[in-house]
Amino acid sequence: MTVADVVTCSGSMIVVSNRLPFVLKRLEDGRLTRKASAGGLVTAVAPVVINGNGLWVGWPGIHLDDPNEPIPESEPGDITPTAGLKSDKVVAVRVDPNIFDSYYNGCCNGTFWPLFHSMPDRATFKSEEWKDYVTVNKQFAECTIQALKTLKKGKDTPQHEIPLIWVHDYQLMLAANWIRQTAEEEEMPCKLGFFLHIPFPPWDIFRLLPWGDEILQGMLNCDMVGFHITDYCLNFVDCCQRYLGCRVDRKNLLVEQGGRSVRVRPLPIGIPFERFVELAENAPKVFTGEHKIVLGVDRLDYTKGLVHRLLAFEMLLEKHPEHRGQVSMMQVAVPSRTDVKEYQELKENLEQLIGRINGKFTTPNWSPIRYIYGQVSQDELAGFYRDAFVGLVTPLRDGMNLVAKEFVACQINSPPGVLIVSPFAGAGETMHEALVCNPYEIAGAAEVIHRALTMPEDERILRMNYLRRREKVNDVNFWTKSFLSAMGSLFTPEDHDDVG
Ligand code: ADP
Ligand code: G6P
Repeated sequence: MTVADVVTCSGSMIVVSNRLPFVLKRLEDGRLTRKASAGGLVTAVAPVVINGNGLWVGWPGIHLDDPNEPIPESEPGDITPTAGLKSDKVVAVRVDPNIFDSYYNGCCNGTFWPLFHSMPDRATFKSEEWKDYVTVNKQFAECTIQALKTLKKGKDTPQHEIPLIWVHDYQLMLAANWIRQTAEEEEMPCKLGFFLHIPFPPWDIFRLLPWGDEILQGMLNCDMVGFHITDYCLNFVDCCQRYLGCRVDRKNLLVEQGGRSVRVRPLPIGIPFERFVELAENAPKVFTGEHKIVLGVDRLDYTKGLVHRLLAFEMLLEKHPEHRGQVSMMQVAVPSRTDVKEYQELKENLEQLIGRINGKFTTPNWSPIRYIYGQVSQDELAGFYRDAFVGLVTPLRDGMNLVAKEFVACQINSPPGVLIVSPFAGAGETMHEALVCNPYEIAGAAEVIHRALTMPEDERILRMNYLRRREKVNDVNFWTKSFLSAMGSLFTPEDHDDVG
């Protein structure tokens, strides 16, 4: 990384997210320890927080009975991105376990997750859970104010030192309400930005939400609201106009609310591209090379289209029997939200379906589907991505989908493999050289997989070169910079020379 690559926020940054960038684990001797998250967001954002002496507000992943129990420091030798995040820079939000369950499993993942992914039939609307969502958002806001106070900035703070509060995702769409109100009352200057990591649905879906006006108002309490792609921005602007009667400017993506003009921006997230290239360069060989591998890597979530994908693979083997014995599908599914009924049912359905398809086609020397239910290490994952012939990314709906990007970053073999994406993922909107596959049309999807498996080498090279080039430039650091820049908080040495 060169000096020019280091992203710096001009004021201190406070990140507010449902999960802290590490989870706490209780050891057998009773001590607490940190387990770092390997995600790209944490890799990109943690250094900005640490270098700017900022703070991170979030849930620590376990319930702590003793409200005064301190957050542990990182272990000696820890080289993960959050190692330098000192415990006094972490505000762990401690929520009553029952309220947290109703907020997280109920309102966040039972209501907002399916509805925002345009799956209203899966959404439940329960006023007690909504009440708990409001309570938890308020608690996060209080912790954020506490964090802001530790920065000790008053009303005379120079513009370039004003702290930036960056609120993340659908779990915290109301938090800005109380943050803005208290910061104004107590004359603590701050800038407020929000980024939604999932789709923002069209008006006709959003209007099903009984509490839609409160959600929009919560988001509009920020100075800027970011989404992955322009479609989500336009959906949001449309909802603000139709639900709240706000004046809007679609061309410049502005919404007027309470005498303020809120900016709405498409900011497509990227991945730590170079890190994945390096992982792919060093990963051990994972497949024997006997069969071509069609790879799926996902959280086990109904939005990912796993059932449709398996049916498409089954149809491929029916319609193109030449692939039998030659091609295997490998699906890696990481357990997710296992307390939610929809996720438990999906796991059972998938296992049955895989059993049925394997039962139908398996021979003594070959099985059509290999299935891993669990987390795999980053090295192993990079090896899977590198050595797969086809990356199959076919969600029914997805905010962006980082797996598609990680796959192309790891395609360092020559000739490379082929990426297939769904047009219903943010990645499908931006990764133009991938093969596009509508996951709902099973027969069509089977033909797209066939096309990928039989694509000439020169076409594979051409497509993958373009895909890799784009993701290399638009990596996660670029995304962080774009967010800071849109907030007017990107540190540039020239500005600071002027100041002083
Ligand atoms: P979502 O945010 O909905 O889970 P994304 O595709 O955007 O979907 O991000 C998923 C992230 O989780 C990726 O960074 C991917 O590497 C990681 N991941 C997915 N499945 C696994 C797995 N089985 N083991 C380890 N990491 C995984
Ligand atoms: C998506 C959401 C994130 C969430 C992640 C994992 O990427 O946008 O906010 O953290 O899924 O889900 P979980 O419920 O385990 O946090």
